[in-house]
Amino acid sequence: MPAIASFAYPDAQGVFDQINKQFYVSPEVLTELTKAFLDEIALGLSEYNHAMAMIPTFVTGVPDGTETGTFLALDLGGTNLRVCEVVLNGDKTFNLVQNQYKVSEALKHGEATALFDYLADSVDAFLTTHATTDYTSLQSDPSAHTSDAVHLGLTFSFPVEQTALNSGKILTWTKGFSAKHAIGNDVVKLLQDAFNRKHMHVKCVALVNDTVGALLSRAYTSGGCFLGAIFGTGTNGAYLEDVDKIRKFAGSAAAANGGAMVVNTEWGAFNNSKSHLPVTPFDNAVDRLSINPGYQIFEKFISGMYLGEISRTVLLSLVDATPKSLLFKGKATPSLNQHYGLDTRFLSEIEAAWIDTGATKGSVELPPLGKPSFESELSDAAKAKLTAVRKVILGPHGLGYKSEDEVSLRDAAIVRWVCALVARRAALLSGVAVATTLIQTGRAVLPGQEGSKALRERNEKIGVGVDGSLVENYPNFNTILRESLRLLVGEDVEQRVNIGLAKDGSGVGAALCALQALKQGL
Ligand code: GLC
Repeated sequence: MPAIASFAYPDAQGVFDQINKQFYVSPEVLTELTKAFLDEIALGLSEYNHAMAMIPTFVTGVPDGTETGTFLALDLGGTNLRVCEVVLNGDKTFNLVQNQYKVSEALKHGEATALFDYLADSVDAFLTTHATTDYTSLQSDPSAHTSDAVHLGLTFSFPVEQTALNSGKILTWTKGFSAKHAIGNDVVKLLQDAFNRKHMHVKCVALVNDTVGALLSRAYTSGGCFLGAIFGTGTNGAYLEDVDKIRKFAGSAAAANGGAMVVNTEWGAFNNSKSHLPVTPFDNAVDRLSINPGYQIFEKFISGMYLGEISRTVLLSLVDATPKSLLFKGKATPSLNQHYGLDTRFLSEIEAAWIDTGATKGSVELPPLGKPSFESELSDAAKAKLTAVRKVILGPHGLGYKSEDEVSLRDAAIVRWVCALVARRAALLSGVAVATTLIQTGRAVLPGQEGSKALRERNEKIGVGVDGSLVENYPNFNTILRESLRLLVGEDVEQRVNIGLAKDGSGVGAALCALQALKQGL
């Protein structure tokens, strides 16, 4: 029997169609989501203890590029732990030396003191091996005064209820962390205690979320920015809000000063309590089997930690389809079988291979994957694209198949389509988050609403700083995000939004925050 005939399947195309529909997000749904997002922002600003926490950060302004100083920065919360030394040159430029340290699964899930001891050890190692300034007299010297201590800004990219620039309680873990006896404790104290246990003369003077870091560092290098957003292992945004609108602050000393303050939205938790998002059975499976079911629902649709896992779940359903497998002749590999066995890097590589062969950026059309003659009808150009995709599937970050016999060009087409579908939905939803902050701050209005004359006549550039593995590595992410932004806020506003990479945002942002803390006398 010819191989193609074995693909005969009652309505195979119907199965693909169904998945395609499940992942489709219509313009109407994007608009509804934006409205729901605005409501959750309003709730979070008015009361404490909402899922979307809307955390005041005590950062009361953004830099303009003239700041100077040398600081250490410690960054925990992405895939790696990083220690940096940052020199702010005062002319919108900086110099940065950094080293990465691996955080083992045991540390992520063990006792918090062990995790924070490891952070302190990493800083100690960095000071000895990487820092350009000679700090040796300050390391482990009991006679050194605190005022001589090295000043460090901590980028801690988890939800923390801040009470000052240099203190805040851990609200919850996200992104696969679950260290014990951390929640409810002051994260700066946990770190400072670890430095003190090791007699290190390092003083943690400021605490920032990575989104705040992205906002501050983009403002420093570009001279203006209102939103910092991360699309990486997790997703989140921080923006400059009027203190008057942070209603839960009413009556506090911070409120008395008025002005503006950076708010860390923790938008990864959007949709935790209400169900607005167009959930698929695959999302439900990913959530149910995650370490935090029911939490960080928006993040689970968008961020790098989960896109590989959603794609793996869809692919496996096709491998396991009955009455006949629709993928890889029914054979799975250890990577496909393993929970979180598929890295989001795989999605980026697949898309890059596809685009390199001349495909249109961002498009996800459903090919006639169920047609028995699919392969024999491929044009030479299509064959070349799918051959490139197959190479990635067979490559070092691929799915673990060993030979071309195991991966047909139809399989390659299915894999590319699934990965692109999952990534496209993520980027469209990311646009919702960005659009919402534009509307919240009066820079745009919802579709169908009439903007004020003043708004229509504005022509200022709107600065947005972004960072994270998805924006950096996924070929279409920015293009698709802008597509949904355009739809939601109109082309005139979208054109003025200047989205720029806040490269090294966590390090530079922590340094800028440390500087603000010192100025506040903390
Ligand atoms: C998670 C964290 C958040 C962080 C984001 C990006 O959503 O809760 O604090 O900013 O990941 O790293």
